[in-house]
Amino acid sequence: MSPQRPTDVTPIDDWSRLLDGKVAVVTGAGTGIGAAIATLFAQHGANVEIAEVDPQRAEGIRAAIETAGGSVRTHVVDVTRAVDVDRLAASVLGEHGHVDVLVNNVGDYRPLVRFGSSTPESWDAMYRINLLHVFAVTRAFLGSMTEQGRGSIVNVHSVEGLRGYPGDPVYAAMKAAVAHFTTSLAVSVGRSGVRVNGIGPDLTQSPQVDYLSGYEDHDALWEAWAPVGRLGWPEDQARVALFLASELSGYVTGHNVPVDGGTLAGGGWFFSPSAGRFVNRPTAL
Ligand SMILES: NC(=O)c1ccc[n+]([C@@H]2O[C@H](COP(=O)([O-])OP(=O)(O)OC[C@H]3O[C@@H](n4cnc5c(N)ncnc54)[C@H](O)[C@@H]3O)[C@@H](O)[C@H]2O)c1
Repeated sequence: MSPQRPTDVTPIDDWSRLLDGKVAVVTGAGTGIGAAIATLFAQHGANVEIAEVDPQRAEGIRAAIETAGGSVRTHVVDVTRAVDVDRLAASVLGEHGHVDVLVNNVGDYRPLVRFGSSTPESWDAMYRINLLHVFAVTRAFLGSMTEQGRGSIVNVHSVEGLRGYPGDPVYAAMKAAVAHFTTSLAVSVGRSGVRVNGIGPDLTQSPQVDYLSGYEDHDALWEAWAPVGRLGWPEDQARVALFLASELSGYVTGHNVPVDGGTLAGGGWFFSPSAGRFVNRPTAL
């Protein structure tokens, strides 16, 4: 007797258009990681819906994607505001009737406040920019995904949510919460055909995290800095987002992928060019 196959593996017709005709919402896609995700999704045939607070950035990415022949609409919204999330959802669902992919990408570590000097106001600010909107935007689009019996949600958090981050434990806690929300929601909605996964970036050049300025003469440091030996780029994050958004990952849900050049895997180990080996202490002996 052949084994039962309640549902089949969705065929991939064209590997160069992995999101052909899909509706994909990307938050914070005016620049950095979000812009690279929106650009790659559009290249792969998605109808991209961008939620971006900065009008100039929104216009810039819209023009760039359209010039390259992609399908894009932009919404100048602040995803931390409930009325803006409602406006975004009404416009996207009004236009397409459904959403296939949601990337919750907005997040920020700034202003960095050391825990000893932090306040209820600074905790609330970290909550609003890193966690609150992930709940709000997800809830706004999840119903459309469960109704149609398919969808993929990708939450961009941080490697700092997956390891100890001494710089700002409050920021790290918010990112860890996004990662665990990802895992828990995935289990909750898996039977509805919706997958939920996360990405934990590190060392990725963007307007928010500038690893180039001030390090112009220190290219050799990269060998010691990240196990893969180079800086990360928004496109590195976008490729993993595409995998998680598309049917390439049709049997993957509830996972958080560090996209970090190996920093999490390396733990406290650094390659010492002078010693020619990995060391786990400040001075290679
Ligand atoms: N770059 C890295 O190395 C790195 C490391 C860890 C985590 N991350 C995370 O990756 C995500 C993207 O980071 P990035 O470096 O590309 O950031 P970025 O600041 O360079 O870009 C973020 C974009 O989001 C927009 N935005 C900010 N607040 C918004 C709001 N309330 N509503 C709508 N849009 C808003 C900004 O205008 C900007 O266009 C964030 O969640 C960040 O915490 C990045």
